[in-house]
Amino acid sequence: MLDAILKRRSCRKYKSNDVNDALLDEILKAAQYAPTAKNWRGWEFVVVRDKQIQRHIAEVVHERFGLSAPIFLFPIIDMSTSVCPIEELSTVTTHIMLQAKDCGLDSIWIEIIESKEDKIKTILNIPDNYLLINLIQIGYCDEELRPHTESEFDENKIHFDNYTSH
Ligand SMILES: Cc1cc2nc3c(=O)[nH]c(=O)nc-3n(C[C@H](O)[C@H](O)[C@H](O)COP(=O)(O)O)c2cc1C
Repeated sequence: MLDAILKRRSCRKYKSNDVNDALLDEILKAAQYAPTAKNWRGWEFVVVRDKQIQRHIAEVVHERFGLSAPIFLFPIIDMSTSVCPIEELSTVTTHIMLQAKDCGLDSIWIEIIESKEDKIKTILNIPDNYLLINLIQIGYCDEELRPHTESEFDENKIHFDNYTSH
């Protein structure tokens, strides 16, 4: 697992190669084993592969690096049933990104700010009571990604038993 964690880096430029359904299924499966408050498992997932719809989304998101991945994945959650929607969307995103890496794919979390959320929901016919906080791009990376290194690990960030001790 640590190997996948170190190798997962945000990819901002993707090859046009599609991702096969079996790999996508694995990623969506990993998503649904993410922890949720009270095990309510309120998330749902909108997978966008249609290029025209992706273009509409890209116009709204206006990401400075562009959006070039073959898969746009939106985790969404019903706010009327989830008590911790942001936490649950964040946790499921981590599952998705790590499973993507384990499947030989790359990904990135693109933030969807509140002012853009409604426009995305309109494009995708997502009901008003659902929250979305991000778009996960998934595909085969077309840039060199350097794995994280052990040198980024900082022992000083860890406190045992009380904050003043390391
Ligand atoms: C909450 C959150 C929001 C992010 N939003 C964006 C974004 O809008 N655009 C982008 O290019 N990267 C975004 N990222 C990716 C971060 O820039 C990236 O994870 C960080 O620089 C660390 O690099 P790494 O993912 O390669 O480890 C976001 C990441 C997180 C966790």
